[in-house]
Amino acid sequence: MSDPSLFDPARYAPVRRPLLDASGLPADCYRDERFFQRELAQVFGRGWLMLGREDMVPERGDFFTVDHAGAALIVLRDHDGRVRALHNVCRHRGARLVDVPAGAATGRTASIVCPYHAWSFALDGSLRACVGMEDTRAFDKADWPLAAARCETWAGFVWVSLDDAAPPLLDWLGELPERLAPYRLQDMVATRVVTHDVECNWKTWVENFMEGYHIPTVHRSTISKLKAVNHPEEPRGNGQYTAIFEQHDGTLALLPGDAGFPPIEGLDGESVRGSRFMLVYPTTMFALTVDAMWCFQCLPLAPERTRIVHTSLFPRSRTARPDFEALAANYYKRQDRVVKEDNDIAAWQQRGLRSPMARPGRFATKERIVHALDNWILDRVLGE
Ligand code: FES
Ligand SMILES: [Fe+2]
Repeated sequence: MSDPSLFDPARYAPVRRPLLDASGLPADCYRDERFFQRELAQVFGRGWLMLGREDMVPERGDFFTVDHAGAALIVLRDHDGRVRALHNVCRHRGARLVDVPAGAATGRTASIVCPYHAWSFALDGSLRACVGMEDTRAFDKADWPLAAARCETWAGFVWVSLDDAAPPLLDWLGELPERLAPYRLQDMVATRVVTHDVECNWKTWVENFMEGYHIPTVHRSTISKLKAVNHPEEPRGNGQYTAIFEQHDGTLALLPGDAGFPPIEGLDGESVRGSRFMLVYPTTMFALTVDAMWCFQCLPLAPERTRIVHTSLFPRSRTARPDFEALAANYYKRQDRVVKEDNDIAAWQQRGLRSPMARPGRFATKERIVHALDNWILDRVLGE
């Protein structure tokens, strides 16, 4: 039974205090179906989520599918070359239309044909053919296109919002594009996408990714050896993101002793002296270091189940090198080992959160972003 005070702001007063006086969210925020549904509507149903790269749909008719906050979407490139996000649900009797999850080979089609009664939709979503509907009264094909979600791109990333009233993507990002300009993300290419379903709440995973407190224990055999100094990076304007800059020598993208690529051309200033971990609220995560980047999207499937979409990217010029696959394998190895450590600890934490004795704890300095994320969520879940 859900706590009747679940959405009472007074319940969350300890979370609202400054970081070093605050406590975390109550454990039921990581388990409760009502809290989860409120998040789907008021966190994931609004704002922007990065759902892939334009280079995953390079040709007209290329598409992949993604299920996001209960909505099923087809991300495709239409006949005019524009990337769109269409709802993956037939306008006849609601059948799912296609299924090619990110990470599988990209699908390619000239039109979207429903497998049930063969209604056929063009790549812009318009209904083109529906044999058998000739006798239906007051039926005009023009009135039955596939529904579209808002879809915008920045630096080669495809972003979708389910909210017609959301601000434009660039307003959501604030000055993040300027901050990330040295990495030339538009020149990067996604070389691999891997998905994992993890038995944890989505916040369990994101909070873990954005704090370095666990690195000496959870990552003791992988990335804990690299000595880094941690600096918070706050948006200078209204960007809906937060970040950490880790100052260190060399790259954070390889395990000790493994060979890799040279630094990204043109990287200068502090960007060449460390790594950035960025969270664009609520769940788009970027890891950028001197020679590579990788990113994650957390898609909430259920209160205690989350799909992690993990994408690896390199500057496009690297992929032309004859040794690309051999060297990229070193980066994938490091990412996969560390992601497994993070997946395992997130599922492990979730098991603890199921106990009736799980109570909110206090934060360390290095958990600044856990606290910031929890408050960002409360602003939305408790609002309206
Ligand atoms: S449900 Fe798609 S054609 Fe009938
Ligand atoms: Fe980690």
